[in-house]
Amino acid sequence: MKRDIISAFDMSDDLEEIIDLSISLKKRRYDYEPVLRNNILAMIFEKPSTRTRISLETAIEQLGGHGIYLNPNDMQVGRGETIADTARVLSGFADFISYRAFKHSNVLELARNSRIPVINALDDLEHPVQIVADFMTVKENFGKLHGKKLAYVGDGNNMANSLIAGSSILGVDISIGSPKGHEPNAEIVQKAKKMASGNGSSIEIFNDPKKAVEGADIVYTDVWVSMGEESQKAEKEKLFAPYQVNDDLMSGAGKNAIFLHCLPAHRGLEVSASVIDGRQSRVFDEAENRLHTSKAILLTLKK
Ligand code: CP
Ligand code: NVA
Repeated sequence: MKRDIISAFDMSDDLEEIIDLSISLKKRRYDYEPVLRNNILAMIFEKPSTRTRISLETAIEQLGGHGIYLNPNDMQVGRGETIADTARVLSGFADFISYRAFKHSNVLELARNSRIPVINALDDLEHPVQIVADFMTVKENFGKLHGKKLAYVGDGNNMANSLIAGSSILGVDISIGSPKGHEPNAEIVQKAKKMASGNGSSIEIFNDPKKAVEGADIVYTDVWVSMGEESQKAEKEKLFAPYQVNDDLMSGAGKNAIFLHCLPAHRGLEVSASVIDGRQSRVFDEAENRLHTSKAILLTLKK
């Protein structure tokens, strides 16, 4: 049976295994068989991408296959062909589909109608492939995941939702600091709380960023204005100003805390230049890890 990764919860049984495979692929660099020889990855991107697109494309090429970048405006789906028919057609040509979409429901619709594995390359609800690289970076730094505390400060968006799901799977304690009305998705939080209680970890949601970062091992933030929300820019930048991750906020975290950001970042908005370019930042290791985790994900879905 084909397997999809639409939500971080789709890795409930093997997220840490995928992370460990990524760590071992990073060590081997080019020293592995082109096991995905002749495999095609169809890559549909409704929104721009640097890391997700290039890491997936590089990953499939390094494993012996080939990625085809697809802009929906150049496809018939852009002029009304259904997502279901697109999925059925691509299933006849390719071996995997990655899909960056505005709507989570469209990713689900594509996956339902595809005979080949579908990877959610970000939508309005989740960014599941990003968190594999995030937690890989945490494991590289601390040697373990279980029992670590991650504080996510800022918008309760797709990143926050997938980090909550991932933390609950891995036994990472997570605390969120988001403004009122911008908390993470309630259904995901509820599902994650059940998972976390089985794995011995906690999920806390605060509106005060200082409370969220208390004693944290990892401080994480993301943009305040996600792709597709540009009309809310002025309003959100005002509301989120107290949520900037700067030296003052970092001083409340653990003394060996690291800083992560999925990128792209906006210095002076969600993070100060002193933090993202400072000694605690691991954002470029995290970005590089997108390549190693993309390989591990493709290999895992091929099984
Ligand atoms: N972090 C991330 O997904 O970046 P891109 O939008 O560049 O893919
Ligand atoms: N929350 C951001 C993540 C970008 C990788 C967005 O959706 O634009």
